[in-house]
Amino acid sequence: MKRIYFLLGALCCFSFFVQAESPANPNLAKAEKIYKRSCATCHGKSGEKPAMGKSKIINQLNAEEISSALFDHKSGKIVGAGNPAKQRLSDEEIHALSEFIPDLK
Ligand code: HEC
Repeated sequence: MKRIYFLLGALCCFSFFVQAESPANPNLAKAEKIYKRSCATCHGKSGEKPAMGKSKIINQLNAEEISSALFDHKSGKIVGAGNPAKQRLSDEEIHALSEFIPDLK
């Protein structure tokens, strides 16, 4: 029986710890994950590289420029080598990324 109380206690502590660790804005944490997984290979860890020698340095763009670029790539209004990576993004993810990327610099 004691063991169960101990486990429950440990679980509570752990979940508190996990919550305390995550940044204030959960969207930004999500954007960071997406960015590292699907964008950094081409655009650089901090958005500092011209992707495939072609794109703008995206950490220099503001949130509005980024979201309109992402929406236009997603919809196919702008066609380029970077498109497949954008087509998978949901609208929500685009908004989160647009806030996150300018903070990278
Ligand atoms: C395969 C490499 C590649 C990946 C992965 C990639 N991009 Fe791109 N991205 C490009 C290229 C190349 C361009 C330039 C336009 C084009 O040719 O599509 C671009 C353009 C952009 C632009 C507009 C800047 C401009 O030059 O007009 C933004 C913003 C952007 N990418 C963000 C992202 C985000 C956010 C992700 C992750 C979800 C991502 N990219 C993933 C290659 C990539």
